[in-house]
Amino acid sequence: MDPMERLVADIRQHRCYNHPVFENWAANRPAPEVIGALFHQIQKFCASTRPGWDFPDALAKHGLLGESELLQEIVESEADHGPELARMAGFIVNQAAGEPVCPDVYDQADVEARLKAQSDRFLGGLPGYTPEDGLTVQARRAIAVFDRRKATDLDATYRNLGTALALEMISNNHLIPGEKDCLVDSGAYGASIDQPEMHYLLEHWGEVGAEQQHEKNAVAAVGAVLDERTEPLIRQGATEFLDALANLWDLLDSALLQSGHTRQLAGVG
Ligand SMILES: [Fe+2]
Ligand SMILES: [Fe+2]
Repeated sequence: MDPMERLVADIRQHRCYNHPVFENWAANRPAPEVIGALFHQIQKFCASTRPGWDFPDALAKHGLLGESELLQEIVESEADHGPELARMAGFIVNQAAGEPVCPDVYDQADVEARLKAQSDRFLGGLPGYTPEDGLTVQARRAIAVFDRRKATDLDATYRNLGTALALEMISNNHLIPGEKDCLVDSGAYGASIDQPEMHYLLEHWGEVGAEQQHEKNAVAAVGAVLDERTEPLIRQGATEFLDALANLWDLLDSALLQSGHTRQLAGVG
């Protein structure tokens, strides 16, 4: 196996890549209030992965011009995904509740405030939860991995490439397919991928989805620079991200999907 194939295979073996959080969501049918809390944490994490900060420029500065272009393409394709994710989240909460809990799913700020209120309610008592932004310790750690994109030294730049590879592999093969399974294919929310409110999934999922192209770009960028010197840094960047996201999934799974909130709230309108 060549080094790039081995790296990709190792990322696929990480427990984050096969985390059961979306299967448990589909099986446990969380109450609409719990779905709000889940989407708040997911939304905050996803938002942190979109900006490129100084990462594409740092690649160019170090002479990695082709790689810089590949990463810049990913960053540009993420524009406008925040409002679309909020729209889908608000729509799913409404469908789960059977009433317009989020009265205007096109009002991103309003939807996000309602999601945060549910996060505060269910997760606010956890040690380290910050009420200003509604972040759990685990979400904050996963988000912090992307702060490294503000550093431009060569080692940080290689770590960022490893993080980008793992992120795009996870998005294309676990996160987006997991959301499609539990939000659409489960049939739990009467949602179809063709509905305008579900455009986020249509945009991201499958053969022509954004994530397929992002993964190709990330594989090409890492493949071009992977050698004995860079591999340890690239692997560090990938592992740091995969560990942090797996810990966030563990928390959401145990606090919101396995804890009894689902059943406890089952009778609540
Ligand atoms: Fe996106
Ligand atoms: Fe992506």
